Amino acid sequence: MNQELLTVFQSQFQQPAQLEVHAAGRVNLIGEHTDYNDGFVLPTAIAQRATLQISKRVNSDQTVRLYSVQMNQKLEYNLGTETSTHGWLDYPQAVTQLLQFEGYEIAGFDALISSDVPLGSGLSSSAAFLVVLLRGIRGLFGLEITDLEIAKLAQRAENGAIVGARVGLMDQMACSLAHVGEALFIDFKTTQFERVPLPKTAELVIIHSGIMHSNAHDDGNRNYKTRRHECEKACELLGIKTLRDLEIGDLERINALPSPYSNRARHVVTENARVLKTVAAFKVGDLTRVGELFAESHASMRDDYDMSETEIDLLVEIATSNSSIYGARLTGGGFGGSIVALAKIGEGRVAGEKIALEYQHRTGITPKLLTPA
Ligand code: GLA
Repeated sequence: MNQELLTVFQSQFQQPAQLEVHAAGRVNLIGEHTDYNDGFVLPTAIAQRATLQISKRVNSDQTVRLYSVQMNQKLEYNLGTETSTHGWLDYPQAVTQLLQFEGYEIAGFDALISSDVPLGSGLSSSAAFLVVLLRGIRGLFGLEITDLEIAKLAQRAENGAIVGARVGLMDQMACSLAHVGEALFIDFKTTQFERVPLPKTAELVIIHSGIMHSNAHDDGNRNYKTRRHECEKACELLGIKTLRDLEIGDLERINALPSPYSNRARHVVTENARVLKTVAAFKVGDLTRVGELFAESHASMRDDYDMSETEIDLLVEIATSNSSIYGARLTGGGFGGSIVALAKIGEGRVAGEKIALEYQHRTGITPKLLTPA
């Protein structure tokens, strides 16, 4: 267990921590906004992660006390009284409400949470928080829940009334199941997944644009919720159940839809095809091809899904023109957040620093190189 955190735990809760668990953040390599359309995705775990230390309550009551290291804030509530407070306590409340609803036997607990997955980076800080908490509660109360079930519970907690973000299942599955150095190729028609080792001849570069991302925010028509509705509307107009029912051969039908539905459906259908091609390219180590697919994916997110920002387009452009980089794209829910790039092995850090510096120089916004960490 992390000694420094143990000391903080003891001073916050006047008892020792019984258990420590972790959940990694994730970066999606390709397959954006395809998960809730029953499509394909390819995320992987990143080095940044959430850590949770947890103990049963000394007097076995129903109180939940949580201390967030990053917020330097301790909050509490009682099991059975969960309600939205529009702050970070919504996440644990959503989790314990759901577990009780599902009939899991839990009681109060003291928990400390610490995470270096940056908020608003599009790297699943929320999913890592939910997954680490579910893992901690599972361990503490000996609940029989698989890692896939943890992911599904985390998604339901995020979708529910307390948090109210209607996200797909990719982030929670990645945070619960993915490992560093290996991508998780998931088919959301079945939630079956395959582990795809990432070639040792390349490394990832992740740069936070400095523009905050949020799945829950509401900014006119440019947000996560609106994009989901537009996909549903496209299905309705096409008389299909899900966009996964369409293939590249259906593009003529898709193009005939009114805008923006044609654009949204075209992104999803072409993105699904790109995920399959990326998996194939990774398997044969064709990194140049992966780079091209990253570029096509970014263009599709920018032009058809309208989920990028001018500054992020610039960041991708600067990265793409760097000779150490095979390709770069916006990653995650969009409307802010990070880019992911594939670099020649050993060249990621220097390239990343150079890209970040030029971006800062040209936009006046301070980016952050997150990987290599
Ligand atoms: C967010 C959501 C995911 C997924 C991505 C976009 O990260 O949480 O479910 O939809 O956006 O690919």
